Amino acid sequence: MGGIIHNTAGVFIKLFVFQWDFALFLLNLVTPDHKEGEVVPKGAAGHHLSWPEYVPPKDGDSRSACPMLNAMANHGILPHDGKNITFVELNHKIRSTFNFAPSFCFFVPKFAADFLNRSYWKDRFDLEEISLHNAIEHDGSLTRQDAALVPDQGKPDLQLVHDLLAEATGKMKDGSPKLTIPDLSRALSKRRYDAKKSNKDYTESFFHNIFGSSNSSTMLTLFGGSINDLTPMLTEERFEEHWEPRIRSRFGLTMAKFNFTVLPVERGVNTKKVAKEREAEAAAQAETVSVQEAVTK
Ligand code: HEM
Ligand SMILES: *[C@@H]1O[C@H](CO)[C@@H](O)[C@H](O)[C@H]1NC(C)=O
Ligand SMILES: *[C@@H]1O[C@H](CO)[C@@H](O)[C@H](O)[C@H]1NC(C)=O
Ligand SMILES: *[C@@H]1O[C@H](CO)[C@@H](O)[C@H](O)[C@H]1NC(C)=O
Ligand SMILES: *[C@@H]1O[C@H](CO)[C@@H](O)[C@H](O)[C@H]1NC(C)=O
Repeated sequence: MGGIIHNTAGVFIKLFVFQWDFALFLLNLVTPDHKEGEVVPKGAAGHHLSWPEYVPPKDGDSRSACPMLNAMANHGILPHDGKNITFVELNHKIRSTFNFAPSFCFFVPKFAADFLNRSYWKDRFDLEEISLHNAIEHDGSLTRQDAALVPDQGKPDLQLVHDLLAEATGKMKDGSPKLTIPDLSRALSKRRYDAKKSNKDYTESFFHNIFGSSNSSTMLTLFGGSINDLTPMLTEERFEEHWEPRIRSRFGLTMAKFNFTVLPVERGVNTKKVAKEREAEAAAQAETVSVQEAVTK
């Protein structure tokens, strides 16, 4: 009975949030964008492109599988120790820092509170708790080895980050490298293929694939795919100096708009193609080895 009431409330909240989100999506179409340099509101960290000092995490600090939340703690926008954070505070901070729409900023922390069995309105969490396996955190991520292989999800895997950044084929207006939608689809395909091979406990679901592509699509929207901005964010979990969200919409990045990036990214994922490429590479390598052996004999 309690379950039914709870679920009914949950469905209403979701319907409400999606409608609210769609209204904001429409409002964004008819209102002027924030001016460049003015996206982060007055009084919030990062206003006028000025971010609080970066201090790397210390021993005992709590960090999550999410690079962007960790960066907020590293800059003291969330508590530097990453502990005892309210879900409501998380809502407000991701809104001012990244210009996500208020609908989105409510939806994700509410989702996190629900999977931790806590009250969104009253309770608190530590960053590492957000990494609960197969809640949001899932196998085949771009910047973390699978949790079965590396239980501490709080630090980036620098080799994986390097491989991801190296996929960029596009160019920003200033000529610097840019990660595109096909680049991200390709990177996700490779990661899912490799993760499945290296982790005997690998799991994958449509639901988590969509999470994965939505999480990584923020790199294309809020970061505009800029490798110059993504490099410090993904390697050190640090804001590039003078960074600001590249989505300047008055009511922020809505889930509805976000879907226009996420769905093409997910649609472009092709692990079968990666399987063929990997097999061809292995065959070529075996060939080289046997030629070398023949030569040395
Ligand atoms: C309430 C806020 C948030 C929560 C609870 C959250 C949680 C998470 C979690 C658990 C992961 C790990 C998923 C995985 O296994 O790949 C993740 C990854 C990610 N998050 Fe967040 N996140 C939040 C906000 C944000 C924001 C504001 C951004 C960007 C501005 C962001 C960008 C990313 C990216 C790019 C990844 C992918 C990293 C990868 O594939 O390795 N997240 N997030
Ligand atoms: C978390 O913060 C609240 C409010 O400031 C405080 O009452 C509580 O003792 C803190 N909990 C921990 C474990 O620090
Ligand atoms: C939340 O509650 C459910 C149902 O009681 C339980 O299965 C789950 O393990 C709990 N999750 C956490 C993170 O405690
Ligand atoms: C990350 O994935 C979770 C699961 O869908 C989602 O709730 C959250 O909105 C995603 N975060 C971002 C920034 O896309
Ligand atoms: C975005 O797409 C997902 C997956 O198709 C869907 O469940 C969700 O309702 C969409 N959200 C919005 C706000 O359009």
